[in-house]
Amino acid sequence: MKRLTLGIVLSAALLGCSDDEQGMPAKDAPEKHTADVVAGKAFAAQECKACHGLDGKGAVPAIPHLAAQRERYLIAALNAYKEGKRTHAALREIAAHMTDADARNVAAYYASQPPVKTKPAADDGFASPYAHGKKLAAACARCHGEDGNSSTPGTPSLAGQQPRYLVVAMQEYLKKERKASPMHALLPGLTQLDKESLALYFASQAPVQRAAPPFGDAAAGEPLSAVCGGCHGSHGVSTDSATPSLAGQDAHYLVDAIKAYRTTRQRENMRLYVTGLSDTEVQNIAAFYAVQKSTAAEKGETLVKDLTAKCERCHAADVDIPGMVVPKIRGQDRDYLVMALRAYRDDRRESSMMHKMSLPYSDSIIESISSFYASQPAR
Ligand code: HEC
Ligand code: HEC
Ligand code: HEC
Ligand code: HEC
Repeated sequence: MKRLTLGIVLSAALLGCSDDEQGMPAKDAPEKHTADVVAGKAFAAQECKACHGLDGKGAVPAIPHLAAQRERYLIAALNAYKEGKRTHAALREIAAHMTDADARNVAAYYASQPPVKTKPAADDGFASPYAHGKKLAAACARCHGEDGNSSTPGTPSLAGQQPRYLVVAMQEYLKKERKASPMHALLPGLTQLDKESLALYFASQAPVQRAAPPFGDAAAGEPLSAVCGGCHGSHGVSTDSATPSLAGQDAHYLVDAIKAYRTTRQRENMRLYVTGLSDTEVQNIAAFYAVQKSTAAEKGETLVKDLTAKCERCHAADVDIPGMVVPKIRGQDRDYLVMALRAYRDDRRESSMMHKMSLPYSDSIIESISSFYASQPAR
C-alpha cells in the first residue's frame, strides 16, 4: 500500500495534474476540476464537428479520430498546439482560443465516445513489405538466383545485402550512374515501396557460403582488406545499412565493381581506396571476400511484428505509464498515423521518446506500421 501511494504521488508530481488519478487520498487531493461532458458536446458541435465529427471520427483521411482517445492525452495535445510545440496552423489557431475549461470539457466528451470501427488492412503491399518484396523478387531470380544467391559469374548476390544500399544501387542504375546492365529494363516501373520491399526481402535471405573462385589468392588479399573493414565491416560483413557487405559476394562481380569505382561509379570515398591497387591485388581482395561467411542483414518476415511489439510497451491499451501521456493508436486513421510518424522522424513534432523510436524507419516501414495499427480494433 505504501508503495502504491508513493507511485501515485510521483506520477502526480511528474504530470503536474491529477485529474483522473484513482485512489488519491481525499485530504491530499488538490482542487478538482470536474469536466462538463454536456458543455463539451455543445462545444464540439460548434467548433470541431466539421473535421472530427460529433462522434469523434475524422471526416476525411489524415484527420485523427478523437473518439475513445485518452482524456489526458487530448488535453495534452490541445496544450501542445496552444504552446506551439505542435505546429499545425489551424489547430494552433483553434487551441489558442480555448479556455482550460473548454479543453477539459471537449476532451471528456470525445474520450467518452465509442471507438471508431476499423476496417481490416487492405492487401496493398504495405501490410507486409516482406511478402510484397518476395512477390516482386520472382522477376529477379533468373539472374540473381532463387533467393538472391547468384551462381552466375559477374552477377552479384543480393541475399543478405544491406537494404539501404540495395535501394541506392537500384536508383543508381535508374539515374544511369552505373554502366548499363541487362537489368535496366526491369527497374523503371518500380515504385519506392517496391524498391524498399525488394531490398527488405533480399536483405532477409541467408547468403550461402561460396567456394574459392578460379582466380586470386585469398590469403594475400586479407591484409589488403584491412583498410576496407572500417566501412565494410569485419570480414566484409557490414553493419551499416547504407554500406554493402562484401562477404560471400561473387568474385567476378567484386573485381568489376572495384574497377568501376575508377571509371563509371562516381564515389569519391571509394575511389580513394581502390585507385592504387594493381589488378592482381584487386583479384586477391575479391578472392578473400568471396569466401567469407555472410549473414542476413534484416529479419524482414517478422519486422512489422517485432517493431510493433516494441510499440506495445507503451501503446498497449492496458498500459498506463506514470508520468507519460501516451495516446491510443489502435484503430487510428491510417494517413494520420503516417503523418505523425514522419513528423517525429523528421523532427517536425516534439517528443524525444517518439523521435528515438521512429528515427530509423523508411517510409515503407512507417506505412506498414500505420496499416497495422489502423486495422487493429480500437478499445
Ligand atoms: C479544420 C479542421 C479541424 C477542426 C475544425 C478541428 N480539428 Fe483537430 N485536427 C485537425 C487535423 C488536420 C489534425 C492533425 C494535425 C496535426 O497533424 O498535428 C487535428 C488534430 C487534433 C488533435 C490531436 C490528435 C492526436 O491524436 O494527436 C486534437 C486533440 C484535436 N485535433 C482536437 C480538436 C478539437 C477539440 C477541435 C474543436 C475545438 C478541433 N480539433 C477542431 C483538424 C481539425
Ligand atoms: C537479366 C539479368 C538480370 C535481372 C533479371 C536482374 N538483374 Fe540485377 N543485376 C544484373 C547484373 C548483371 C548486375 C551487375 C551489373 C553491374 O555490374 O553493375 C546486377 C546488379 C544489381 C544490383 C546491384 C547489386 C550491388 O551489389 O551493387 C541490384 C541492387 C540489382 N541488380 C537488383 C535487381 C532486382 C531488384 C531485380 C529484379 C527486379 C534484378 N536486379 C533483375 C542482372 C540482372
Ligand atoms: C570510407 C568507407 C569505405 C571504405 C574505407 C571502403 N569502402 Fe567500399 N564502399 C563504401 C560505400 C559507402 C559503398 C557504396 C557506394 C555506392 O553506393 O556505390 C562501397 C562500395 C563498395 C563496393 C561495391 C559493392 C557492390 O555490391 O557493388 C566494393 C566492391 C567495395 N566498396 C570494395 C571496397 C574495398 C576493396 C575497399 C578497401 C580497399 C573499400 N571498399 C573501402 C565505403 C567504403
Ligand atoms: C517509451 C514509450 C513509447 C514507445 C515505446 C512508443 N511510443 Fe509512440 N508515443 C509515446 C508518447 C509519450 C507519445 C505522445 C508524444 C506526443 O505527445 O507527441 C507517443 C505518440 C505516438 C503517436 C502519435 C499519436 C497521435 O495521436 O498523434 C504515434 C503514431 C505513435 N506514438 C506510434 C508509435 C509506434 C508506431 C511505436 C513503435 C514503433 C511507438 N509509438 C512506440 C510513447 C511511446
